[in-house]
Amino acid sequence: MRVAIIYHSLSGNTRRVAELLAGRLAGTAEADLIEVIDRRQYSTLTAYTSGAPRAMRGEVAEIDPAEIDVAGYDVVVLGTPVWALAPTPAMNGAVAALRNAEGKKGVVFATSGGGPSPAAETLAAALAARGVRVRGTAQFERKDLENEAAMNGLVELVTRPPSAG
Ligand SMILES: Cc1cc2nc3c(=O)[nH]c(=O)nc-3n(C[C@H](O)[C@H](O)[C@H](O)COP(=O)(O)O)c2cc1C
Repeated sequence: MRVAIIYHSLSGNTRRVAELLAGRLAGTAEADLIEVIDRRQYSTLTAYTSGAPRAMRGEVAEIDPAEIDVAGYDVVVLGTPVWALAPTPAMNGAVAALRNAEGKKGVVFATSGGGPSPAAETLAAALAARGVRVRGTAQFERKDLENEAAMNGLVELVTRPPSAG
């Protein structure tokens, strides 16, 4: 099984969870980490003054890589930081950049400062609109990125056999 773990990360938390997931999948699956970069290159300050309002509006950023071909993968995992209760514009850009995603299995995770947020569900809906069969979402808080229950749930969503849907 081949898994694409596509993520955006400004301060490293989402990258950390993506890397932990890749580590947990080693031996079970072949996982590739694909980092998405927002061409606007936010600082912490401009992320709040400009990025958060854009996230709130659901804007789609121009990103690198401009196209993400997932033809060779069985499962597409998307990881987003929560910005203003929403996925980042870069991860909206990642959904738009997907090629050959139709019919793939999908899983979404979000990392946040804390508290409930619909960001993962919002991104999951966007992924489903691209024809991906989304299996579920997972949430991590930045103070507890290694949360075992959340990581176990995420691994289970990714590795669940095809017959289970
Ligand atoms: C611009 C901005 C907006 C944020 N908005 C929220 C928010 O609405 N709710 C929340 O729980 N955390 C919020 N956070 C905290 C981040 O979601 C959290 O630190 C996340 O783990 C960052 O991921 P990263 O290190 O991969 O960039 C925000 C952070 C930034 C920079």
